[in-house]
Amino acid sequence: MKLFRSSSMRQRLVVVLGSIALFGSFLAGLALFKVTEYEVRHQEISELKGRVELISHLASLQKKPLDIIAFNRSLTDLLGAHEYLEVRVFDPEGRQIYGKPFPANQLDILDGDFRMVLVDGKRIRGISTGITLGGVPKYSLVVTMDTVRGDKLLYAFGITLLVVCLAWVVFVSVFAAWAVKRSLSSIDQLSEQAVRIGPQDSHVRLPVESIDLELRQLSTTFNRALDRVQDAYRRSEGFNADVAHELRTPLANLISGTEIILGKPRSAEELRATMASSLEELELLQLMVNDMLFLARADSGAVAAELTPTCIRREVEIVLDYYEAMLDAAKLRVNVVGDADVLANVRLIRRAISNLISNAIKASPRDETINIEIQCHDEIARIRVHNLGTGIPENDLPKIFERFFRVDASRTQRISGHGLGLSIVNAIARMHGGGTFAHSGEGWTQVGFYIDRNSANR
Ligand SMILES: Nc1ncnc2c1ncn2[C@@H]1O[C@H](COP(=O)(O)OP(=O)(O)OP(=O)(O)O)[C@@H](O)[C@H]1O
Ligand SMILES: [Mg+2]
Repeated sequence: MKLFRSSSMRQRLVVVLGSIALFGSFLAGLALFKVTEYEVRHQEISELKGRVELISHLASLQKKPLDIIAFNRSLTDLLGAHEYLEVRVFDPEGRQIYGKPFPANQLDILDGDFRMVLVDGKRIRGISTGITLGGVPKYSLVVTMDTVRGDKLLYAFGITLLVVCLAWVVFVSVFAAWAVKRSLSSIDQLSEQAVRIGPQDSHVRLPVESIDLELRQLSTTFNRALDRVQDAYRRSEGFNADVAHELRTPLANLISGTEIILGKPRSAEELRATMASSLEELELLQLMVNDMLFLARADSGAVAAELTPTCIRREVEIVLDYYEAMLDAAKLRVNVVGDADVLANVRLIRRAISNLISNAIKASPRDETINIEIQCHDEIARIRVHNLGTGIPENDLPKIFERFFRVDASRTQRISGHGLGLSIVNAIARMHGGGTFAHSGEGWTQVGFYIDRNSANR
């Protein structure tokens, strides 16, 4: 039983195949033996019946008065020398008139078709029947046969069957072990290839075409998982490089500004001005680090908390109030349509809306209108901000939600920021069970997000 539960697939398969061979050959051997035994015993009884018929016929030919000596002689001539066959004839008084004496205490069991073990251990089977001899009925004829011939034959046949069955089981087990080893060699091939996969060889994949059909699915799934891991690894590498790159410029500015100021004695006024500009730079850095921390938390699966009933239109209006000065400076008009009531984290939703509107203001040409549309579809609330401007090239559209991605600066109307705004919008939408979308054409752009109206139900 333990072997059936072995943790080795090879062992399990060999044991199962060996057991099937053992069980199968046992059943086949048993059936064969039983058929042969039946045939041998049938043969014996047919032979006995033949003898009885012959002797009965001879007895019926005897004339009255009976000449026992002549009858015995003709009986001996008829039977010939058959060591295994014995014939006995008893007269109506039970006295034996022909044949070897029979153990007296076993005489009374001689009835019909019988089998018995003699006192000397010999196994016999026989037929006892009445015959008419010399015209007188009630004589008894007993024909017996030593079954040793059939027993020996069956014994030899049984032993041969056993040896053949055992040899068959051994053969099947050895062949199964070989076949299983050969079939599972693909797994060894896979593990050899898997060992080669590492950070330096992240492009290496498991074979798919050259592998057995059963393992192809596993290989394909594993390769897909590797693709995802490689993609995440590449992105994380890119992210680290981006972070280093983004921090380098403000840090270099801070260092060089400080070096210059320390180069010669400065008035209190000059020192204050430099410190103020350093503070501004440091605050921007802090903002960026906070944004990155926020994105890292969202990536690790954080969901929106502190959900409150929120009116999206009202949040848009609050954000527009905040940007009023900027909108006026750029002479931009804003048109808001639609509304949606949601259960969401109001602070996060406001931040997402603010990022979209700030981008639209940066991208929109002066004297134009920004259109904000709020839609409410069953469980989904959607907000889209449409502005005119140079638009976003089609190739860049899927990338604008990635961290630190900025479309070529020469195309944008005003200076772009850190490139974290839309990745934060995307993170906020995901935290509310939603997502983001962006479309752009010649001279227009539309960016937005949707959320689950009741993200608490997720
Ligand atoms: N409404 C828009 N119209 C045209 N281009 C846009 C619009 N919104 C975003 N973009 C492009 O997508 C880029 C990524 O936007 P995102 O908000 O992530 O970064 P950012 O605005 O440059 O910086 P941050 O938001 O961190 O200050 C922008 O640099 C800009 O080129
Ligand atoms: Mg932005």
